Amino acid sequence: MSNKIQSLSGYIHEYQKSVNEPEKFWARIAESFHWQKPWDNVLSWDKEGPHVKWFENAKLNITENIFERHLFTHGDKAAIIWEPNDPSEANRIISYRELFELTCQFSNAMQAQGVQKGDRVIIYMPMIPEAAVAMLACARIGAVHSVVFAGFSSSALADRIIDCEAKMVLTSDGNFRGAKNIPVKAVVDEALEKTSTVERVIVCKRTDAEVTMTPDRDFWWHDVIKEESAIHAAESLDAEDLLFILYTSGSTGKPKGVVHSTAGYLVYTQYSFENVFQYNQNDVYWCTADIGWITGHSYIIYGPLLSGATTLMFEGVPTYPHPGRFWEIVDKYRVNQFYTSPTAIRALQAKGLEPIAPFKLDSLKVIGSVGEPINEEAWHWYHDHIGKGNCPLVDTWWQTETGGIMISPLAGITPNKPAHASLPLPGIQPIIVDAEGNELKGNNVEGNLCIKFPWPSMLRTTYGDHKRFKETYFSAYPGMYFTGDGAKRDHDGYIRILGRVDDVINVSGHRMGTAEVENAINEHPRVVEAAVVGFPHDIKGQGIYAYVICDEEGITQEVLIDEIKNTVRKIIGPIAKPDEIQVVSGLPKTRSGKIMRRILRKVASKDISNLGDTSTLLNPEIIDEIIRGAQVS
Ligand code: PRX
Repeated sequence: MSNKIQSLSGYIHEYQKSVNEPEKFWARIAESFHWQKPWDNVLSWDKEGPHVKWFENAKLNITENIFERHLFTHGDKAAIIWEPNDPSEANRIISYRELFELTCQFSNAMQAQGVQKGDRVIIYMPMIPEAAVAMLACARIGAVHSVVFAGFSSSALADRIIDCEAKMVLTSDGNFRGAKNIPVKAVVDEALEKTSTVERVIVCKRTDAEVTMTPDRDFWWHDVIKEESAIHAAESLDAEDLLFILYTSGSTGKPKGVVHSTAGYLVYTQYSFENVFQYNQNDVYWCTADIGWITGHSYIIYGPLLSGATTLMFEGVPTYPHPGRFWEIVDKYRVNQFYTSPTAIRALQAKGLEPIAPFKLDSLKVIGSVGEPINEEAWHWYHDHIGKGNCPLVDTWWQTETGGIMISPLAGITPNKPAHASLPLPGIQPIIVDAEGNELKGNNVEGNLCIKFPWPSMLRTTYGDHKRFKETYFSAYPGMYFTGDGAKRDHDGYIRILGRVDDVINVSGHRMGTAEVENAINEHPRVVEAAVVGFPHDIKGQGIYAYVICDEEGITQEVLIDEIKNTVRKIIGPIAKPDEIQVVSGLPKTRSGKIMRRILRKVASKDISNLGDTSTLLNPEIIDEIIRGAQVS
């Protein structure tokens, strides 16, 4: 039974039902899945905890809903189309039946290697089908996966292993990404020098790079599966058992482990996938994200596979070996739904129309955007030149924490409005509040975006630290989930996301905490103090601008700046490397010692016309120096 909304009036009707009787609404949606035991209670919501439970006491396994539920009807259908980094290498098309067998076989292998229900498994892998198999096998045996984007450094990887006390790491010998051949296993080896919980490392061969295999700890993927059968009975999981942990940056401290549980995530990712993209059974769907991010989890793997969809997985990058690579793939597989980031669009837009010219793109029915605000210029370019003016563009707003798309047009149903995430999905109750938490009702209002009622795929906690969960998401506006984003409801009631209002920067759709980058910069022995802010960047949306106070004796600024950039690359990864570093003799501070970031943000944005009230500064004279330095840097 499909839960697909067919029309605007259908959407309005469903939305009303979801708000008036949420439990009845979600129970109806959930009925179409396979439950080993039904739930006793659809929702329990303790605002104080806060604790949320969906489909309480139900038993299920998410992979049974992907495989067993579909095998009779479409076992031979392509589940994953895999396109390699290098177009001259053979692709792989894996049917639901084959994916099922690979998953079962690897489930057996992981269990044979000692992984049990509840154990945490780190996945640090390239975009190859085995990465999907790894996630699904964890889900099948009830292990909790934590995928770490394979561009993160060894020290970022070690932090995550330590935080979740992982027992196993799944990785590869190396990664192909564009012209690069990245030695991934070596990064894992370095990380494991700092950790103590990992008992086994399973290495999938991809690049044939020379790797060091530590005896009794490291095993080849192809060896561990060799003797294993392709049958594995799914573990029975509780609705609220952990499905995965995904680390993400916030405004303070180290990245936190966002926890998603099984049943609610299953129901919501499938429902939102089917409705936002209006997927039809013979369509080919492609999301260009990496499985290291939530978009890869929810809309390459779980949402599409739960819907019995054909999901395309691309190993490479948009511009390799040529800037028409995305469009070549769209034509090659006759992709119907295409989902990417504004950064990718802007980068390709900058290459002009020539790379698109050889391709028809006539299979596309829906195009989508995710991860950061899409500016109107990029929206129109995408809509006109990729969607050829006749594909609905879904600008989908959501977060690692929300698990699934929260505010978005439904393709072809919600009228398109450039750069507007538009309307909430059924079951989602967003509100805009002022600084005091008062709801700003009606249209033409702007403020902070909160969600006032639980939804099935919301995060349940931050791993190992429930207090942090409460403080981060439920303390600014008690009883409500605070998103960290600003938003505007326009005169038609359509929502436009304005971007983060906290100390989080969104660089190419990747979340970076300013504190996290500052801490990495501070690791350089010559740095005395650092302050990091975001600034508008033509391609990346936001760039990273760092002001640093340093001991400059006997070193040129050029060398120092290079060294600091490398320190950040080593501690977090290349995505966190500052675009600009300005050496300063002081930072603007209030009398209570707080850095006045507002001023730093303005200077970094080269917008110094109105710096606002600076009378509370302890050292107002520093502003002139900073402005002078910024203009010459
Ligand atoms: O600021 C919002 C921005 O990305 C943040 C969430 O980042 P992350 O957890 O990494 O998840 C990204 C993929 C879902 C949000 O707080 N963001 C995400 N989508 C949009 C967006 N900003 C504007 N428009 C969007 N469509």
